[in-house]
Amino acid sequence: MTTSTIIDPWAVSESGFPADGRPADKLTYALNYAVLAPSGHNTQPWLFQVKKDQVDLFADPTQALPVVDPNDRELIISCGAALFNLRAALRYFGYTADASILPDAKRVDLLARVKLGHSHKATAEEVALFQAITKRRTNRSAYENRPLPEALLEELKMAATQEGAWLEVVENEDIRNATADLIAEGDRIQWSDAQFRRELASWTHPNRNLRRDGIPGYAMGVADTAAYAGPLIIRTFDLGNGQAAKDRDLALGSPALVVLGTDKDDAAAWLATGQALQRILLRARASSVWASYLNQPIEVPELRPRFARVVGHVGHPQLCLRLGYGPDVRPTPRRHVSDVVIESWG
Ligand SMILES: Cc1cc2nc3c(=O)[nH]c(=O)nc-3n(C[C@H](O)[C@H](O)[C@H](O)COP(=O)(O)O)c2cc1C
Repeated sequence: MTTSTIIDPWAVSESGFPADGRPADKLTYALNYAVLAPSGHNTQPWLFQVKKDQVDLFADPTQALPVVDPNDRELIISCGAALFNLRAALRYFGYTADASILPDAKRVDLLARVKLGHSHKATAEEVALFQAITKRRTNRSAYENRPLPEALLEELKMAATQEGAWLEVVENEDIRNATADLIAEGDRIQWSDAQFRRELASWTHPNRNLRRDGIPGYAMGVADTAAYAGPLIIRTFDLGNGQAAKDRDLALGSPALVVLGTDKDDAAAWLATGQALQRILLRARASSVWASYLNQPIEVPELRPRFARVVGHVGHPQLCLRLGYGPDVRPTPRRHVSDVVIESWG
């Protein structure tokens, strides 16, 4: 099977969709949108196998983050986000896209199977979500002091529910303060761990580099010269206090602070979280709203139950996001579809 050769994955254009091609060509083209999903440390931990009219999504264990994500929870969430993009692209291009989640109990790395379904006319909302795929980025800058419309927050809650997750908007000041304190505590715990710093450093790159995964310094707001020293500084110094103060301020100053969670805490729930995450991020971006992550109190195991009590929602917090308006930022690199498609053996 041939895979697409778009030079910059972000430059993908809908005009290249092979409307008269074989089902496998259509599915492969839609993968150009799947690979634009967000992922922890930009690891892009997904692999795909296209067979006739179906595509299998696999976890890529070589892109795991054993220190910050020892159970592959965020890895599977990231794959769920890619799955949502794939479904959104297929629906935009005129097909229903039924996904079976964890379709083979004997293959734990097979996360989902998507079939190119029958013809379908995309709704206005589906068009808006699809068009936001290439405009979404994680935006780590401080946001303007401008509240999000209540109606949008309601839409984001509905987006989570549609994918089998829940979204709690932190409105109470005591809960916001307690959340900000836990984020800061999480930063201090993570940065005091040399293994955490080493792992983060290995996925942080200078601004000018040829890697197609990992986080370039500019995505963290670091200028070209400083970004060269970034990985060494991260590996060597415990910057926990400074990071804690910065993240505490960001959490307290966020126009909206939200927690995405699920009732259960297993692979199916993590895939639901990823799909809900991407639906939320795209709905937000379609409304000119950016998002960034403050996941520390969920990533640090001893803080997660405390954070769950603070949030006060039955179930398991999976991600903590801040949302707001702000300046545009550059996209981060992506592996090409040809790098993440496993050729079919049979
Ligand atoms: C499951 C998950 C967890 C993430 N956790 C964090 C985080 O804790 N801190 C952060 O700054 N970014 C986090 N990110 C954002 C990624 O670093 C980002 O998606 C990746 O670098 C690609 O950049 P992009 O989102 O701009 O395309 C997370 C993303 C995902 C999907």
